[in-house]
Amino acid sequence: MCGIIGYTGVEEAQKIMLDALEILEYRGYDSAGIAVCGRDGSIRIRKCAGRVKDLRLLCEKSGIFGTCGIGHTRWATHGGVSDANAHPHKFGKVTVAHNGIVENYRDLVQRYHLEEKLQSQTDSEVAAAVLDHFYNTDPLAAIRKTVLKLKGTFALSIMFDDIPGTIFAVRNVSPIVIARAQGGSMLASDVTALGQYSREYFVLPEFYVAELKETAVELYDMAGEAAEPEWLTVNWDVDRGSKGGYPFYMEKEIMEQPQVIRETVMPRIQGGIPDLGGDGIPDSLLMDCKRICVVACGTAMHAGLVGKALMQSLVRIHMDVELASEFMYTDVIVDEDTLVIAISQSGETIDTLEAVKHAKKSGAKTLAIVNVRGASVARASDYVIYTNAGPEIAVASTKAYTTQLAVLYLLTGRMAYVRGSFGAEEAKAFAGELMRVPEVMQRVLDRKEEIHYIARSILNAQNVFMMGRGLDHAILLEGSLKLKEISYIHSEAYASGELKHGTIALITEDTPVVAVVTQGKVKSKEFSNIKEVQSRGAGVILFIKETFGLEKEASWESVFMLPAMEDGFMVMPASAALQLLAYYVSLDKGLDVDKPRNLAKVVTVE
Ligand code: M6R
Repeated sequence: MCGIIGYTGVEEAQKIMLDALEILEYRGYDSAGIAVCGRDGSIRIRKCAGRVKDLRLLCEKSGIFGTCGIGHTRWATHGGVSDANAHPHKFGKVTVAHNGIVENYRDLVQRYHLEEKLQSQTDSEVAAAVLDHFYNTDPLAAIRKTVLKLKGTFALSIMFDDIPGTIFAVRNVSPIVIARAQGGSMLASDVTALGQYSREYFVLPEFYVAELKETAVELYDMAGEAAEPEWLTVNWDVDRGSKGGYPFYMEKEIMEQPQVIRETVMPRIQGGIPDLGGDGIPDSLLMDCKRICVVACGTAMHAGLVGKALMQSLVRIHMDVELASEFMYTDVIVDEDTLVIAISQSGETIDTLEAVKHAKKSGAKTLAIVNVRGASVARASDYVIYTNAGPEIAVASTKAYTTQLAVLYLLTGRMAYVRGSFGAEEAKAFAGELMRVPEVMQRVLDRKEEIHYIARSILNAQNVFMMGRGLDHAILLEGSLKLKEISYIHSEAYASGELKHGTIALITEDTPVVAVVTQGKVKSKEFSNIKEVQSRGAGVILFIKETFGLEKEASWESVFMLPAMEDGFMVMPASAALQLLAYYVSLDKGLDVDKPRNLAKVVTVE
């Protein structure tokens, strides 16, 4: 959940690292630090609780100069948020920045008699101490011995006092990518931090050691044998990683959706029909499975719920959606007849990754829907479909969600076609409607100020309820998560018909209700349920498909008419509207929209 950076080359490391840490800050933002090997060969550290901007101020007052360094931005796990617990940590001759969790750190403290010697409460300093214990003059041997002792997940960037100008890196699960750039070599937790410096990078394989020098990067396996990196190319424009004139990444990413959905869908329509052959997905995979099980967390799990509604109604296949964090502990039934679909923006969410490994052991086929190329979930799965959303920096997921939905539509369309639920004409009509999504969604985005106005009515609410049925309920679960995480307003999304079984007791005139009505087959029931909350005094904000029409006598807090598509596709324009609603509430509350409290973009702890 932290971000790490490393640079060795001909330029000042401090500047490069501070700039890169600002980009990586979305991975964790409660403290930050850098260590630089000075021209005299000594390693100096600057670190503090707070944001990268606080670290920058510290470095402006008292800079550390040199051309080799490592840096870190932290999301606290072991040890509170304090200057001492910020990384990097130095122990003896070893300086370390760590992302992950060393689960057996207490055993290591005892075994290596570290009780009185540590400066912080972190598991990461323990890793540095164990490395120092094993280090004599052979860094690779010390790293090998250390990783054999560590239990848990780790991405370590390491400097040794007596090897100036060189950074070592090793990882298990937590990611590290490496590039040749800026007159030297760089490493980072993810490629967004390197994209402005280099288009070529490789993902450090697990349990390999990388040695970064000014002139080259060497890669070794655990036996010390040299290995060849598998180079990848950054597949998005560098300005995709910038704010592009918007006040927050979230707004920019919401506004990018028509384009990235187009880029996700268009290459996968062949002869007017959804086709996943270019992704290496054989039709047999879609034809032979007897059931589908999605594993995912948060927003990605909500995308799975939309997928489930589509698959069940159009393909008539049994589909479950499981919280990845519960998957291994609830005896979910998956076997060789199950297609397990792992959905993850980052591809690094540890719960999702572990669920994929568990599913494979149970004999299931695994298919990943992932945004970040080469990410762990993609590598662990038998098949992968990449969403082409480009880097998503805001902690609140928006364009990743709708591109995940786009892939789920493509999968549904292809599956319905190859399994015979759709004939060629139906498959073409389905693909045709999917190709309309960018244009229809754009019409919602063009009216963002209308939604800004509507957002004012929930600005001061303590609680918000959201209600709808079927697909409307599925997207409201996501709309509600969005509102909670960035506005800190308690919000619950309810299947409309379920409210009367208890929760309606909470509805008062102080409880704004957001209702979505886009599904013809449940529209009249949704209106009945809306009347139930209105009778208890609730003001209702209604998002409704424009062709549905409103009863004249009904009164609304506000109404937003959603441009019409086939009912099955209304989730796309409605999702954009709900994202904007949450965004404007957070913005008008003066909150840090992109970096909500307590959260991190990439969740690599269980
Ligand atoms: O990277 P992933 O898609 O696996 O992340 C899953 C969740 O952590 C993520 O969707 C989270 O719920 C977002 N903050 C929601 O906006």
